[in-house]
Amino acid sequence: MSKILVTGGLGYIGSHTVVALQNAGYEVVIIDDLSNTDIDFLDRITSITNIKPTYFEIDLKNQEKVNEFFQQNKVDGIIHFAAYKAVGESVEKPLMYYRNNLVGLLNVLDAMKDFDTDNIIFSSSCTVYGQADKMPIDEKTPLKKPESPYGKTKQMGEEILEDFSSAFDKNVICLRYFNPVGAHQTAKIGELPKGVPNNLIPYVTQTAAGIRETLSVWGDDYPTRDGTAIRDYIDVNDLADAHVKAINRLVEKKNKSKLEFFNLGTGTGSTVLEVVNAFENANYLKLNYQIKERRAGDIIEAYADNSFAENELGWQPKTTLAESMRTAWEWQKGLEK
Ligand code: WQD
Repeated sequence: MSKILVTGGLGYIGSHTVVALQNAGYEVVIIDDLSNTDIDFLDRITSITNIKPTYFEIDLKNQEKVNEFFQQNKVDGIIHFAAYKAVGESVEKPLMYYRNNLVGLLNVLDAMKDFDTDNIIFSSSCTVYGQADKMPIDEKTPLKKPESPYGKTKQMGEEILEDFSSAFDKNVICLRYFNPVGAHQTAKIGELPKGVPNNLIPYVTQTAAGIRETLSVWGDDYPTRDGTAIRDYIDVNDLADAHVKAINRLVEKKNKSKLEFFNLGTGTGSTVLEVVNAFENANYLKLNYQIKERRAGDIIEAYADNSFAENELGWQPKTTLAESMRTAWEWQKGLEK
């Protein structure tokens, strides 16, 4: 059985991917520093699959601890989620973001070189495209300088991996997520942002739960069908499935080059108001929201051309926006209990 290291494996996308890997027959070992999650996600994952992943609480910025891990654990591949991801916070604390996201990655790559691990999947983001000139966005779309230090760490991470894969003959896949949403069907794992949520869906669910007074819709004067911005909301379970297919590709040596990029989105754009309506209809409730000014740094529109992932990974997103809204709400309601 192949053994996969999942860094950030107790986080939102990480925990869903650990479940999917275990269900696919992989042995999983998790490294997580618990900076943006809770240790009870380990039990939550185990309660879904009945397989407790091996877990190490390690800060990837500690190179000595990272090397110690690799000395003691031989892995066939790595899925690297561990990074800070709050766009707004990255603007206030850029050095914290560069240090955490880039030093953590570099320590993992150094260890891959020193301990002969050949395969890595990198958690990247459509933010590397900035506001693309044409829709849908495919992997050949020219990259633009991201607005936020968070987005820059994703773009720099990809550039580091490009040089790493050619210098040391390593296999790299960068998965560029669009907007991850939803939760596991069991409602045992989901998105658990610390503090005031930056992202749309946790703010929606916390408003519906009465934790937040009202949802601010940031801008209705965009050049779109209803004036609100368009994004591609991809279900987290479909994202997890894409990671399993990507690691299969590397472990089974089916990758056609040392460095590959895949856009992971549904291929359909939704406006903020369409998402609000989808949430209300899926959960038979009315949401409190107010139209506010645009949020600085937001782009107008982004949705994926996911045909490369469909053709090369055999990946097909299956979850509807309505279903993602339903599972997001079930997860939120479960948190109150
Ligand atoms: C989506 C839309 C907002 C909150 C970022 C990162 C990306 C990824 C997801 C990290 C926008 C609007 C939001 C709110 C709103 N990575 N919105 N009211 O900015 O597209 O992408 O997060 O997790 O890499 O770039 O996601 O969810 O913040 O915003 O109106 O309270 O919802 O203006 O149009 P974004 P988001």
